[in-house]
Amino acid sequence: MDQDKKVYGLFIDGQWVTTGTTIPVLDKFSGKVYAHVAQAEQAHVTKAVDAAQLALKTPLPAWRRSAILQQTAERLTVNKEKLGELIAIEAGKPLKDAIAEVGRAAETLRLSANEAMALTGEAVPVHAFPGSENRLAFTLRVPLGVVCAISPFNFPLNLLCHKVGPALAAGNAIVAKPASATPLIALKLAEYLAEAGLPAGWFHVLFGAGSTVGEWLLDEPRFAAYSFTGSYAVGLHIRQRVGLRKSTMELGSNSATIIHHDADLDGAARQCARMAFANAGQVCISVQRILVHRFVFNEFVEKLAAQTGELIIGDPKNPHTDVGPMINQKEAERVVAWVEQAVDDGARLVMGGTRQGALVQPTILTHVHPKMPVWCEEIFGPVVSVAAYDYLEEAIDKVNDSAYGLQAGVFTRSIDVALSCAKQLEVGGVIINDVSTYRADNMPYGGVKNSGTGREGPHYAVQELTETRVVVFNHR
Ligand code: SIN
Repeated sequence: MDQDKKVYGLFIDGQWVTTGTTIPVLDKFSGKVYAHVAQAEQAHVTKAVDAAQLALKTPLPAWRRSAILQQTAERLTVNKEKLGELIAIEAGKPLKDAIAEVGRAAETLRLSANEAMALTGEAVPVHAFPGSENRLAFTLRVPLGVVCAISPFNFPLNLLCHKVGPALAAGNAIVAKPASATPLIALKLAEYLAEAGLPAGWFHVLFGAGSTVGEWLLDEPRFAAYSFTGSYAVGLHIRQRVGLRKSTMELGSNSATIIHHDADLDGAARQCARMAFANAGQVCISVQRILVHRFVFNEFVEKLAAQTGELIIGDPKNPHTDVGPMINQKEAERVVAWVEQAVDDGARLVMGGTRQGALVQPTILTHVHPKMPVWCEEIFGPVVSVAAYDYLEEAIDKVNDSAYGLQAGVFTRSIDVALSCAKQLEVGGVIINDVSTYRADNMPYGGVKNSGTGREGPHYAVQELTETRVVVFNHR
C-alpha cells in the first residue's frame, strides 16, 4: 500500500470504520494512487442493516427529512468547485462537467426534499359499491424499510443522490455501495448528510472491489428493496437473486438519435458531437447510433466531424477539457478493439479509433452493420456510428431493433415526424430536437427492454420506494 496516501473508512452507523483490507483509488488521468478506502467484510453488511433497522424504529417526520435534504443540497452547492475537483480526479470527468454534476446532485436533493413534504395517498371511493355505503377509504404511502442502493462510477454523486434523496424522502434507511472506482465523493455525501442532521443509522456507505460485497448485499434478507444502476448483466443477476422484493433497475443502452432531412443540421451536429463524447461516452443515454436521412447524410457527417474536431481532449482537471480518460485502460482497450473489429468487418473510420492509456480519441464510424457490437451492444465509450435511412419508418424500425430502450433523440422541424417518433419509438424517453443524452433531474428516467425497470427522478422514485397501503373505515 502507498503509505503516504490517506485511507478512508466505511461509513456505518454514523462512524468511520477502517478494516483489514483497502482498495486503492486512482487518479484516472495520471493513473497514480490518490487515496485508499476500506473494503467491507460481511460483518459490516450485518452491522449496517442492524443499525438501519434500529433507526427505522424512530421514524423521522417528513419536515425533518425534507430539511436535512435541503441543507445537504446547500452544502453541495457551497462546495461545488471543491467537490467537482474530487470527481474530476477519481472519475476522470472533465472539471466543468464534474462541477455541473455537483449542481445537478444538489437539485436532485432539493427535488427529493419537496417530495418528502408532498408525499400523500388518495381518497378511494369504496362507498360507491353496494354494501360499502358506510365505508370511507384512503391510501397511505408507506416506506419500504431498508433500501440497498448500488450506484455506478459515471455520475458518482448525482446517481447516488437519485437513490438516496428519494429513499430518504420516502422515510427509508439506506445502505449504499457506490462503485469502488469512485468512492470518495460518496463519503462526502455521508459527511454532509450527517452535518445536516441525519441521525446515525439512516445512511451507510460500504465499499467492495469485485463482486463479493455485492453478493453479501444480495444475501441479506432484511433489505426491502434494491435500487441499482449499472450493466444489464448485473441488473439481471440482481433481479434473479432478490425474488419478489422491489427493485429499480437503471441499466444500459445503445441510444439512438434520428436526424431527419428537415432538421437544423448545424445544431444537431453540435449537440451530437458534444453529447456522444461527453464523459468519454460513459453515459447510459450517450448518443451511440445516429440515423440520418440519406438526403443530408454526407453533409451531416462532415459537420459532425468538424464539430468533433473542435473538442479539447486530455487532462480532466483542465477547465477547458471536453473529453477526459475512460474509467480505466482495460475499458479503453475494449472500446478500441470493438472499433478495430468493426473496421475489419467493413465499417469506415471517419476519425479517432486510437487511444493513449485510458484516453480514447472521439471516434466516428459509418457503413456499420447492425450485427456489429459498436451498433448493437452498449459501447459505453466515446464512439458514435452514423447510418443512413430513406424513410422515417425505416429509421424508427432501426432504433427499435435493439435489445435496449432507454431514450432516443429526434431532430426535425415537422410536428408529424416528432409525434410519429414519440408514439412509435420503444424507449423510456423521446427527446425532440435534442439528443438522447438530454436529462433533467425531475424527469421520469428509466427504460424498457434490457434498459431496466422502474423510473428514477425524485417524484417517480418515491413511488417506487414506498408501498401503497389502503385504510378502510367502517362507520355507522
Ligand atoms: C446515466 O448514465 O444513466 C445517467 C445520465 C444522466 O444522469 O445524465
